[in-house]
Amino acid sequence: MDAGSPQNRDTWGSKTAFILAAAGSAIGLGNIWGFPTQAGMNGGAAFLVIYLIAVALIGAPVMLAELMIGRHTMRNPIGAFKMLAPGRSWWLIGAMGVFAGVIILSFYSVLAGWTMAYIVKAATGAFTVGVDTEAMFADISARPLSAISWHLAFIVLTIFVVVGGVRDGIERWTKVLMPVLLVLLLLLAVRAVTLPGARTGLEFYLKPDFSAVNFRVVLAAVGQAFFSLSLGMGAMITYGSYLSKKDELVTSAAWVTGLDTFIAFLAGLIIFPTMFATGFDASVQGPSMVFVVLPSLLAAMPPQPYGGLIFGTGFFILLGIAALTSSISLLEVGVTWAVDEKKWPRKKAAILLGSIAFLVGIPSALANGAVDWLTNVPGVGMDFLTLLFTIFGSFALIVGACFISLFVGWKWGVTAAGDEARASDGRFRLEGIWRVLIRFVCPTALLIILIQTLLQTF
Ligand code: TRP
Repeated sequence: MDAGSPQNRDTWGSKTAFILAAAGSAIGLGNIWGFPTQAGMNGGAAFLVIYLIAVALIGAPVMLAELMIGRHTMRNPIGAFKMLAPGRSWWLIGAMGVFAGVIILSFYSVLAGWTMAYIVKAATGAFTVGVDTEAMFADISARPLSAISWHLAFIVLTIFVVVGGVRDGIERWTKVLMPVLLVLLLLLAVRAVTLPGARTGLEFYLKPDFSAVNFRVVLAAVGQAFFSLSLGMGAMITYGSYLSKKDELVTSAAWVTGLDTFIAFLAGLIIFPTMFATGFDASVQGPSMVFVVLPSLLAAMPPQPYGGLIFGTGFFILLGIAALTSSISLLEVGVTWAVDEKKWPRKKAAILLGSIAFLVGIPSALANGAVDWLTNVPGVGMDFLTLLFTIFGSFALIVGACFISLFVGWKWGVTAAGDEARASDGRFRLEGIWRVLIRFVCPTALLIILIQTLLQTF
């Protein structure tokens, strides 16, 4: 029996389990670290508005398209395109996805490693009012041994869950912990917006000033939307391939998109008031921003003097778990491919691909103060981690999503794709709008963005 055929594949236990797993993939450092960082660098409220438009017009339709491809073919991204377009080169989109997954995992794990280090800091009482959080961050990220060890620890954890498989590994973890994360974020948001001096931060985040909007802001918003929703590299094709034929597609896609966007919004609601209330300014940029700003909020939580211990430890445990449920989806894309197409045992695939991600990630681990030329890559004006993020966490996803929308809109066809949704959902709500978005709006918008980016870069 062909291991890539639908008969002997694992599936999610229920529609809710799928939604939580897919939301688990989507919700992660991209929401809590990436979104506020991007919004901070790109004008605050104006970025938020453009981000929401990008999610609605481009993110949501592509999310549905990826799930349709996955559920219909029940295959990994490469196998899926080969099945729907035999003998053609469309499978290269899937190949690019597998590759991008390993690269994204390589630096994602560095950031996630920092969150693990913060768990230890918080639990040992380091989060006290007035603590120098910049020094704390440097202690974790700028010492080579520390940065690499935490990166390794996180990759090992990711491999461990992926070896466990879909239902016993991924599903079991996400079902309980995602809801807990949501509650904690709500609590922190309430605390942040009621801080004395929160007003300036809220205005920065919620009162748009469109005069500063330029093409870069649009590019950043669209890239951030794809990264946050885990789109453009086949993660949702892969997760969709484990979706049962009975479970509804359209509402699942809507839930995942909505939850992810809500959590990103909440993260901004936590970070910006805190940032302004505690005297950090928007010049605290790059990957470190959230890691420097958040601990100061956590340290000041009531009841003093234990607030930092309780909320700090709790928050970073949950952030670490949110990162884990995302990183497993990055590794799972390649693992599903190796299991389906190369007939490798799951364990071998996870260990091998995970090890590659670890090695590739070492320069990123050293790019935050440990090694000068990685911290400030000559001629590029950013650190190596941010550079990889820009290429693979943004640009490559936009390329991938552009081809995915062209594929579903014009090659596989909206009617065939729509049939996949109707088979489980009965009625496909908003089908007319989805057709227009996936055939015309998504490819055109993404193509313009890509061309503009290339023109501006070279
Ligand atoms: N979406 C995750 C986050 O926001 C990261 C992630 C997981 C991802 N899988 C992905 C990003 C696939 C792009 C593609 O943290």
